[in-house]
Amino acid sequence: MADVTFEQVAKRYGAVSVIENLNLHVDDHELMVLVGPSGCGKSTALRMIAGLEEVSAGKISIGGRAVNNLAPKDRDIAMVFQSYALYPHMSVRENLEFGLKMRGVDRADMQRRVAAAADILGISPLLERKPKDLSGGQRQRVAVGRAIVREPAVFLFDEPLSNLDAKLRVQMRAEITRLQHTLGTTSVYVTHDQVEAMTMGDRIAVMRDGKIQQLGTPLEVYANPSNVFVAQFIGTPPMNLVRGTVADAALRTSSFSIPLPQRIRPSVKNGQELIAGIRPENLGDRSKARGESATINATVDIVEPIGHESIVYATAGTEHLVAIFEPHSAPKIGEAIAMTVDVDSTHIFDAATEQRMVP
Ligand SMILES: Nc1ncnc2c1ncn2[C@@H]1O[C@H](COP(=O)(O)OP(=O)(O)O)[C@@H](O)[C@H]1O
Ligand SMILES: [Mg+2]
Repeated sequence: MADVTFEQVAKRYGAVSVIENLNLHVDDHELMVLVGPSGCGKSTALRMIAGLEEVSAGKISIGGRAVNNLAPKDRDIAMVFQSYALYPHMSVRENLEFGLKMRGVDRADMQRRVAAAADILGISPLLERKPKDLSGGQRQRVAVGRAIVREPAVFLFDEPLSNLDAKLRVQMRAEITRLQHTLGTTSVYVTHDQVEAMTMGDRIAVMRDGKIQQLGTPLEVYANPSNVFVAQFIGTPPMNLVRGTVADAALRTSSFSIPLPQRIRPSVKNGQELIAGIRPENLGDRSKARGESATINATVDIVEPIGHESIVYATAGTEHLVAIFEPHSAPKIGEAIAMTVDVDSTHIFDAATEQRMVP
């Protein structure tokens, strides 16, 4: 077992800077998720831990040992990629054994490790099959199994579920989380999927343009997004963001006015430009507001009933908003509705810096 540390790590390709001054500590036993849009540098960060990319500056340590100059094979890591890259002519067992043979692990130890990994992944009955005779999910398990048998200090996952259909992805993410808890192996998991990040991570690091925007537990980040980018990236449907000007303890947007949360009022002044963020679940049915509430009048564009709730897309003046209604009280397309805003749960950001206003 081991922790992983990035200290002032940078990665440049010639004049192009991909990662700037990355500082991150992944605790021993932790499942850390790096999440962000495509191209933000997640894979690059992971590949630097693995030693598949050199760092341009700074230090990466595994278990307190600087690994910058260690070859990938000496770093005691195992990586699972999006493409499983199983050897097609080998059986599942041979695929699992292959890396161990290369490392000179003795026969008895190898058999023990393969049996244990196959058992924990539920693929024991498949050991003599070839990859072509497996389903996508089974292949994925074999790819994870290949990492497990290595018994590494750290697991690295790079979008390992991207090739699976939606249902299988949900199932496999739970399996990987359970497995990680069982084995307790420190893991860094990369994904562009914020739901995957939220559901799997002990902590998540939200990245954009090679920089960590926010680090915290999923619920910390969800409850207190530190800037507009994180606010909109984490959460589905995404948070509504409306720009406006402070006028007498309220935010006046182009289309409506909503009271500012009490906690914010002392730190703003009239005329100041702010962005208010309202999560869809804090907008909609009257029954949902806990403290102070306000009303936004809107016209319904689309209703998406998904069973336990209905997602309502509505337009208020020039603002397009998403709200959540109880399925039985959901409005109809074209209906004029009064949506309730839970004022205290509104997130407030400075319009110029896009940073969250404290508290
Ligand atoms: N060999 C390279 N030369 C130049 N730019 C690269 C190279 N490899 C990756 N990049 C750039 O680095 C950025 C981050 O890439 P990557 O880490 O793969 O992003 P992510 O995994 O978050 O989608 C991208 O803009 C990509 O174009
Ligand atoms: Mg990537």
